[in-house]
Amino acid sequence: MFCTLTLLLWIYVDQALTETPPPPPQDVHADNWLLTWSSATEDRNVTYTVQYRPYSHDEQKWKNVPSCVQTPSNSCNVTFTRDEEEKHRCVMLRVQAKRRGLKSAQVDACSKHGDLCTPNVSLLAHRGSLTVNLSGNSKLYQEYAAHIKYNIYYGKEGETLKENRRQISSVTIPDLKEGQRYCVRVQYLLYGDEVGMSSCPICEEIPKTKPQESKLKEAIIVPVVAVSIILAVVILSYVLIYKRKKIKQYLQPPYEIPSEFLLDDVPIPNSTYRPRDEIYDTISVMTPLEVRGQ
Ligand SMILES: *[C@@H]1O[C@H](CO)[C@@H](O)[C@H](O)[C@H]1NC(C)=O
Ligand SMILES: *[C@@H]1O[C@H](CO)[C@@H](O)[C@H](O)[C@H]1NC(C)=O
Ligand SMILES: *[C@@H]1O[C@H](CO)[C@@H](O)[C@H](O)[C@H]1NC(C)=O
Ligand SMILES: *[C@@H]1O[C@H](CO)[C@@H](O)[C@H](O)[C@H]1NC(C)=O
Repeated sequence: MFCTLTLLLWIYVDQALTETPPPPPQDVHADNWLLTWSSATEDRNVTYTVQYRPYSHDEQKWKNVPSCVQTPSNSCNVTFTRDEEEKHRCVMLRVQAKRRGLKSAQVDACSKHGDLCTPNVSLLAHRGSLTVNLSGNSKLYQEYAAHIKYNIYYGKEGETLKENRRQISSVTIPDLKEGQRYCVRVQYLLYGDEVGMSSCPICEEIPKTKPQESKLKEAIIVPVVAVSIILAVVILSYVLIYKRKKIKQYLQPPYEIPSEFLLDDVPIPNSTYRPRDEIYDTISVMTPLEVRGQ
């Protein structure tokens, strides 16, 4: 009985492991007409298929890249996209993993460098904001200037870049968390449709305000305290030097002269005591003053 259960469980676990679709490829990017990705699994039986979609206003269909169908390799030569781009047909690429007939999700490729079909992006971090600098000098931009826009995706590093803005030029994203790294990727939009590969995410840390703020506080507080101390010393010295008499008056204990003293007609009692002859010792020895002083 126990053995049967164990066997059933083992079969179930084995089936679950082999019959789940493979994890999607990671870090799919194009660099110099070579598309590369990394495998998210050790399983050697996983294969990859690369698809492309040339931009066309009426028909947008994904097609297989013939040399990269179910390849066990982690790269694909995509030099053909250059020829397409030269005809101003920007190409998008994506990769899918497959194992025993089960497919992973599709992963869109990004482009490491700005080129004809991918915006050239640079970031400039400020306090609480990030400027996305886009140089609109690509051929695509010149050709379609009036119909082209940038789709800017951004978010915290490690998260999906969900937020997006459609812009016609560089933009500053406000209200970002200080000390946090934010990443940005940008894709061209032509007549409102995404064209070409997105730029690969680039990240920048938003500088913290706090150290600067405390510096500012120091810059204000230190002089204020110093000036207060100097003022206190000056006032105190003035009071001590010029108002000494008044202070003395204030400090004198209140006392009154007895009224009898002020009345002349009141007889001051005369002492009736007469000292008797006093007895003196006869000085027999005298020491000189100098000797005593020693
Ligand atoms: C790959 O698949 C083959 C059969 O298609 C199988 O014999 C082999 O054990 C598998 N290898 C791995 C690592 O799963
Ligand atoms: C890619 O393919 C082109 C021809 O399509 C070839 O000229 C080039 O050498 C290949 N690049 C690599 C890295 O294999
Ligand atoms: C992208 O911008 C960098 C400088 O920010 C420049 O060196 C490079 O040539 C640009 N690339 C393209 C394709 O415009
Ligand atoms: C934006 O990038 C261009 C080159 O790509 C550069 O000339 C320009 O100075 C940059 N602007 C800012 C604000 O960084």
